Amino acid sequence: MPKTKTRKYARVKELPNVIIPDPALPPEPLPWTSPAYADKKTVLELGCGKGEHSLGFAAAAPGKLCVGVDCKSHRLCTGGEKGLALGLDNLFFLRAQVEEIRTYFPDRSIHEIWLTFPDPHPKQRSIKHRLSSEKFLEIYSRLLVPGGQVHLKTDSSLLYTYTRESVAYWGGQIKSYSDNLHGENHAFTGARDIVSAFENKATARGETIKFLSFTLNEDPVNQGAVNDPLGRD
Ligand SMILES: C[S@@+](CC[C@H](N)C(=O)[O-])C[C@H]1O[C@@H](n2cnc3c(N)ncnc32)[C@H](O)[C@@H]1O
Repeated sequence: MPKTKTRKYARVKELPNVIIPDPALPPEPLPWTSPAYADKKTVLELGCGKGEHSLGFAAAAPGKLCVGVDCKSHRLCTGGEKGLALGLDNLFFLRAQVEEIRTYFPDRSIHEIWLTFPDPHPKQRSIKHRLSSEKFLEIYSRLLVPGGQVHLKTDSSLLYTYTRESVAYWGGQIKSYSDNLHGENHAFTGARDIVSAFENKATARGETIKFLSFTLNEDPVNQGAVNDPLGRD
């Protein structure tokens, strides 16, 4: 194993803002259950990697609680160290499988979910692993407050098209979309003013970045309550 990776596996265990649940030990209270966070809206980034989007969201919105989730702790180490260096007390990282995310957050407690460049899993037999497949939409619909939105950024046309179909089939509502997020001429917002290294590489290869926002449990009373992340009226 490369030295850097080994260092990160050891270092991440010391970071107070990275939660690594240990199934062998009794569960400890999760930091975001503290009363200090009770009034904050919660934003999850699922499959956050090094947490570039989570870092950006937390810095831009100190009034929100941001949690980046990934199954690879050495990647979370990078985000955790940066979060500490920036003094972001509204940012945590959690090592977990997205499949198990309801273990860590109560239902109807999440205001936004970001899926940032999830693996497209192109093979037919892997469709069930796509983070916008039916079993994941079911999980998100339970976690989100009514009308809370899921946002997808992807360089994969296959995953973009699949997600639009999957959401429609599931009975969700597409709120906004873009086939070329960085090519459109509208106000900057969180959707495109944070650019991860993965995203930069895709753009350098000539890929366009696709974007999709949708709801899964919309309550008519709350329609329009969530801002359009593309900044359109
Ligand atoms: C292509 S990377 C994108 C990373 C980051 N969001 C970005 O924009 O650079 C996909 C990430 O999702 C994580 N991942 C994939 N499936 C997952 C799952 N089921 N649960 C948790 N993390 C997952 C991987 O470990 C990886 O870090």
